Amino acid sequence: MAGLFITLEGIDGAGKSTHADYIARRFSDAGRTVVQTREPGGTVIGERIRALVLGEAMDTMAETLLVFAARAQHLREVVRPALSAGSVVLCDRFTDATFAYQCGGRGVPESAVATLASLTHGDLAPDLTLLFDTDAGTARARVVARSATDRFEREDLGFFERVRARYLDQARREPGRFCVLDAGQSIAGVQAAIARAIAQHAL
Ligand code: TMP
Repeated sequence: MAGLFITLEGIDGAGKSTHADYIARRFSDAGRTVVQTREPGGTVIGERIRALVLGEAMDTMAETLLVFAARAQHLREVVRPALSAGSVVLCDRFTDATFAYQCGGRGVPESAVATLASLTHGDLAPDLTLLFDTDAGTARARVVARSATDRFEREDLGFFERVRARYLDQARREPGRFCVLDAGQSIAGVQAAIARAIAQHAL
């Protein structure tokens, strides 16, 4: 069976992590082996880079290069082997997050991220990207309700509005790969939309 690469995207507080286990269960119930992972992270090196990127103020290009460094290691150790083995790789964020956060949020040129993406993973792209979309104010309220926030979560509303706009722009450019979910509705409503998206695209 061919591997399947599914990514979850959205601004902080959109609720994608809440739904990751539900998505994994749908695939394992259908008899698939599921590898759940995240970026930045998913490997020892990647998790160390994650702590640095989420914890320390830094130059925006340094930030961009670090997320790609973590991604290169993650692809080598986790993503490519799992896809080769025919597994479903369910990845919490991938390169769309770099276009959204570093280009949309921080103003890094798109050409720089496109070049790094091509160097790091060539033609490899997700088979399906679920974009959990909600307005920045709703997402912010959810983030603030959590106990501790990281360096990204402390950004202002304008930052998240730019990130969200960039995500929606990407979804418009690649409608075949993206499925935009209204993450502002009830959990049951989001799950029903996820089930439809998976049935259409992946199962
Ligand atoms: P998470 O909390 O959803 O796991 O994501 C961690 C943070 O990392 C999130 O605020 C977005 C940020 N991030 C980037 O800025 N660029 C990237 O390429 C990735 C993968 C994450």
